[in-house]
Amino acid sequence: MCWFDRDKESGHGIFCMGGCFNHETYIMKSISTLAVMSLMALTLTSFEATADEALAKSKGCLNCHGIDNKIVGPAYKDVAKKYQGQNVTDQLANKVMKGGGGVWGGMAMPPNAVTPDEAKQLVTWVLGLK
Ligand code: HEC
Repeated sequence: MCWFDRDKESGHGIFCMGGCFNHETYIMKSISTLAVMSLMALTLTSFEATADEALAKSKGCLNCHGIDNKIVGPAYKDVAKKYQGQNVTDQLANKVMKGGGGVWGGMAMPPNAVTPDEAKQLVTWVLGLK
């Protein structure tokens, strides 16, 4: 087979792969295309979850909120539990932007530098946590 015939000194191996392995390469390509596609589908689904988390991190939310644990502010899972079944997305998004206190204890949340869309996206994510 060409693979083993290649002249290592002259570096023909690379051309050789293109010329002699056409058939095998074709099969390999279809297999890896399939593999890549299913991988992409997988990563896309998990990416959805982490994109929101990454936004929360980049906006500093996770400095004060843990997903599972209270830091300065309440754990996001506790927030989700508290408002379960209630239509509070807009109200909470507003609070995220403007800040406010009095719900969870002594500390108030300072205003956060997020756009209305980001605030809504973050609150939707928080309220969807389980
Ligand atoms: C400096 C700390 C701090 C930062 C940064 C912070 N929070 Fe908070 N957050 C708090 C505190 C404290 C509370 C509790 C306020 C209260 O008792 O009403 C709170 C409450 C909340 C609540 C529940 C509000 C309610 O009325 O029940 C949500 C939702 C929330 N934060 C989301 C966010 C998001 C999203 C970000 C990032 C854009 C963020 N927080 C950034 C400290 C912070």
